Amino acid sequence: MNSVEIISRKRDGLALSEEQIAWMVDGTVRNAVPDYQISAWLMAIVLKGMNDAEILAMTRSMIASGRTLDLSFIPGIKVDKHSTGGVGDKVSLILAPLVACAGVPVPMMAGRGLGHTGGTLDKLESIPGFRTRLCETEFVRQISKIGCAIIGQTDDIVPADKKLYALRDVTGTVSSIPLICASIMSKKKAEGADALALDVKFGKGAFLPSREKTAELARTLVALGNGLGIRTEAVLTHMDQPLGLAAGNWLEVREAVEALRGGGPPDLMEVTLALGGMMLRMAGKAATNQAGIEMLHPFLSSGKAYDRFLALVRMQGGDIGVIENPETYTRQIVPHAVASPVTGYVAGLDAMEAGLVCVLTGAGRMKQDEAVDPGAGIVFRKKTGDAVRKGETIADLYTNRGEKHMLSDRLLRAYRFSDQPCMKPVLIDGTVQA
Ligand code: URA
Repeated sequence: MNSVEIISRKRDGLALSEEQIAWMVDGTVRNAVPDYQISAWLMAIVLKGMNDAEILAMTRSMIASGRTLDLSFIPGIKVDKHSTGGVGDKVSLILAPLVACAGVPVPMMAGRGLGHTGGTLDKLESIPGFRTRLCETEFVRQISKIGCAIIGQTDDIVPADKKLYALRDVTGTVSSIPLICASIMSKKKAEGADALALDVKFGKGAFLPSREKTAELARTLVALGNGLGIRTEAVLTHMDQPLGLAAGNWLEVREAVEALRGGGPPDLMEVTLALGGMMLRMAGKAATNQAGIEMLHPFLSSGKAYDRFLALVRMQGGDIGVIENPETYTRQIVPHAVASPVTGYVAGLDAMEAGLVCVLTGAGRMKQDEAVDPGAGIVFRKKTGDAVRKGETIADLYTNRGEKHMLSDRLLRAYRFSDQPCMKPVLIDGTVQA
């Protein structure tokens, strides 16, 4: 077999065999296929797609690239959550400790920022000392002890995704149903989850903007997950504008902490609780999603969910001092205010543009393995439906880079204004089950 043949076959729209896919994935992990050929192959997949058998083969090869964890001796149904990626999406930071409070073990294997979207691992690593690389024993011990752990792909577990994900991020090859499905489901199978709640996003800031394509992605993920023996369900959520008020690593940790203390913004809490309710039902703790949501509320108001987050941060080596006293965080940046040019209403806030500006503040990557600036990002003071006055601050930019005025102008172009009152967008647009 040779890579040029396999790339050309996919370029010509032909299906690849299980062996050809396994050969490419194996070559990726062993560094036997150079990055430029892997990138060409990924682009051919983006453009020509894969059938169900190829997606399954790709997922299986990625799982086989590393070890699979066995969590069967941890009692209970282990449930994870994964999002297809958005701007300001800090739901996982809230959900893992929150759902663990209800006695549901949450083994979470998360990703880094991809394209214009943020990543849970980058957010957690903005906490000084936080380790997202735990060995298997530590991961399992932590879940047994506090009910949740959040780690990244390791050299042992789905190393293929680690390599492919980083390459996709910098080669314009993220927006692909087969690649997203194989990436997400390989990690979920390898981490040993029994059930999975997916947040599949559509709209301007999602990898697949169209509602129709996103529904197809959700159906493919749900079928693939169930086919791999993971009970999988999905919520379709709108990502036209950023979720919550903050985008950027430390800024999002701070917002997640507020949410865990019962003070999260309504849109963030709506998505978090919808997924949390689903997770509790899938774990057999609640008869319906709504009953699950009602079980979760007291953990937020009592401070239990916040305490569980502190336990997670402490066990993963993070400095809980900065969580408890955020003003002691040493990487704080002085914000640059972006002012409204008009008096009226925010008619829209383009999540893709906002996400790209966020990357340019230093919060995300333009090149593979680039370091992110933990304190950089944006706080959106005004979002769709809010009234604004001319000159009022609509967003604060946090950046150490010199191009504040250019970023400010670009962020302003992400906003649309109207002199008429505007509706807040509907966030949850249905669920997909097997
Ligand atoms: N999340 C992942 O883990 N992989 C993708 O490809 C997209 C979102």
